[in-house]
Amino acid sequence: MASEAGLFRHGVASGDPLTDRVVIWTRVTTPDGAPAATGWVTATDPELGDVVASGTAVAEAEHDHTVSIDVTGLEPDTTYFYGFESAGERSPVARTRTLPERSDLLRFAMVSCAKFNAGFFNAYARIADRDDLNFLLHLGDYIYEASNTPPATQTPGADIGRPFDPLHECVTLEDYRRRYSQYRLDPDVQRLHAAHPVIATVDDHELADGAWRDGADNHKPEWGPWRERKARAFRAKWEWVPGRPPDPNDPTRVFRTVPLGGLADLFMLDTRTRRDQPVPPPAMHDPDRSALGPEQRDWLLHGLEASTAPWRLIANPSVMGRTWDEQLPEAVRPHLVKVKLLEPEGRGPDFDQWDGYPAEREAVLGFLRDRHIRDLVVLSGDVHVSIALEMDEQGDEGEPLAVELVTPSLTSQNLDDKMGWGLRTTSVEIERQIVNALSHWKWCELDSHGYTIIDVTPERLRADWWFVDSVLERHDQEVHGGAWMVERGRSRLLPAG
Ligand SMILES: [Fe+2]
Repeated sequence: MASEAGLFRHGVASGDPLTDRVVIWTRVTTPDGAPAATGWVTATDPELGDVVASGTAVAEAEHDHTVSIDVTGLEPDTTYFYGFESAGERSPVARTRTLPERSDLLRFAMVSCAKFNAGFFNAYARIADRDDLNFLLHLGDYIYEASNTPPATQTPGADIGRPFDPLHECVTLEDYRRRYSQYRLDPDVQRLHAAHPVIATVDDHELADGAWRDGADNHKPEWGPWRERKARAFRAKWEWVPGRPPDPNDPTRVFRTVPLGGLADLFMLDTRTRRDQPVPPPAMHDPDRSALGPEQRDWLLHGLEASTAPWRLIANPSVMGRTWDEQLPEAVRPHLVKVKLLEPEGRGPDFDQWDGYPAEREAVLGFLRDRHIRDLVVLSGDVHVSIALEMDEQGDEGEPLAVELVTPSLTSQNLDDKMGWGLRTTSVEIERQIVNALSHWKWCELDSHGYTIIDVTPERLRADWWFVDSVLERHDQEVHGGAWMVERGRSRLLPAG
């Protein structure tokens, strides 16, 4: 943990590991905001004695006093330790790890939806406790831009002593920077980053609720042009979330491919900031509407076809599989509305998810079918609940084209929070009815917060959901919530015991 008043109060972090490099990060908080010469070192031991790379940088106001160093010349699949020094003060020392070149086992945690005022990041602390992970996959909503004012907030932050800072929506660059700073002063966030490198995409709340290419639900004309707010949000994201912009000339680009040790290709998607505006039917059926935007779609389809790894993983901020069916009993629809899986009236899918872009979803899934692309697993977040589903679109042999694994929120409210009933009480029967009506859904759990461990071998991919029970206090309990696997060559979900 960083000292609360020191130069390195935001701790240190790392991100976007490759086989030979990883980005290390810190922020240097000088009393007068002056530029600070900062030394950095990467070593193979926690005492930082066996140095493999070192250098100096300057923490400047231009980048909000953050420092990101792309440390190169590293060995594959190796644990490294790193730290910073400025004006005689040393940062905490943290651990990171490069990706393997060839591997028969890869394991990572996936998370989404870290709403500061909704709870404590107990799940981050549990992930930090583990030493068996290659990295952390963040599917977005790393921050929430929201104001602390009900009903915009889902939880009375004051009740648990975690109001947002600033209290208002993040609109200016200073607002976004302050919000990131608040998150990075959280001890569980610091522990997480000190233990694992992060590979992150963005969901809408890194920018604004309901973000799309030219606007957002939570954007008002008096806040100025959306394009400028979007640019400020991306600027703060790249300053604060450790990572390597895939296109240095385009800070709004997040989508990129990460090769995972010859086992999988990981396609990092952005389903928010390049999409057409979400609209209800019938307009949502317009064949020209896109969730990805033309550039990202071309990149994705080309990459899926070119991939020769045993597995293709799509890191997908919003749910891709169908969440709506006429068979859904009236009684369960209001609950699916509560967890953002149906439109507000409960008469159709939530058009904010991939269901709202049916032509493009069919184009992507049809491409898989036509090109015989197999062994695709979609990893999703955003809806705050846990789901394991098979796409109901099928390939030539009648097998589903892909499976989708949805990780619950770290803290954002899910069904029991929103309805005010006890954990694992009324929701259990509702889940049963939903899985009954949506036959391609194999499992769902609508109450719990936590994270998912994805475990990949050449033969199978396994997902284990870990739940942390309450987030209204800091504690160290977790329970195993569910496990599903898919064997290579068959896009069928099997219970994994
Ligand atoms: Fe979220």
